[in-house]
Amino acid sequence: MPMAKASSESSLEVLLNASEIAARIRELGEEISTDYRGRTPHLVGVLKGAWVFMADLIRNLSIEVTVDFLGIQSYAAGATSSGEVKITKDLDVSIAGRDVLVVEDILDTGRTYLYLRGALSAHQPQSLKLVTLLDKTSRRAVPVKADYVGFQIPDVFVVGYGLDYNQQFRRLPEVWSLRRVGLA
Ligand code: IMP
Ligand code: MG
Repeated sequence: MPMAKASSESSLEVLLNASEIAARIRELGEEISTDYRGRTPHLVGVLKGAWVFMADLIRNLSIEVTVDFLGIQSYAAGATSSGEVKITKDLDVSIAGRDVLVVEDILDTGRTYLYLRGALSAHQPQSLKLVTLLDKTSRRAVPVKADYVGFQIPDVFVVGYGLDYNQQFRRLPEVWSLRRVGLA
C-alpha cells in the first residue's frame, strides 16, 4: 500500500477502490457486449494510461474483439493540458470498415480525443466510439463526449490504475486523487 503522504509536498487519497472499479468494469463489459453483439469491434487502447483498464475490460466482454494500441503524449510533463498531441506509436492494422472502440483512461479537457477522433475518422471506420474509465466533465474545453463512462469524477488530478504523474503511481490498484500542496 502507498503511504498516505506521497512526499512532504503532496498527498494521496483513495477516490475509487479496487472493488468499485472491478464492479463498474463488469457493468461496462456487459453493456458493450450487448451493444456490439454479432460484431467484432476493434479496441484501440490509448497508451500508456489506458492499458490497465483495457486489460480488465476485455476480460469482461462476452464478444470477440481485436485490439491495437495508439501511443500518444498529450502532457509533456506534469498536469497542464497543452492541447498538443504527439503520436508516439501509430496503429499496426487498418481500421477501415471496422467498428472502432477507443479505450481511454480519462477524458479531461477533451482535446486529446478531439484530435484522435479526427485522425481516426480519416481512416474510414464503420463506426467510432469511445469508452473512458474516468470523465472530468467539468473540465471540458471542447465538445466531445464519451459513449461509455466508468465514473464521473470531480476536477482533481488522479493517479493509479494505469494513470500517472510523471510516470509515478501507475501500479496502484486504486484510483487516488493527488493533491500537490502549494499548487492549489
Ligand atoms: P485531455 O486532452 O485534457 O482530455 O486529457 C486527456 C489525457 O490527459 C488523458 O488521456 C491523460 O493521459 C491525461 N490526464 C488528464 N487528466 C489526468 C489526471 O487527472 N491524471 C492523470 N492523467 C490525466
Ligand atoms: Mg491518456
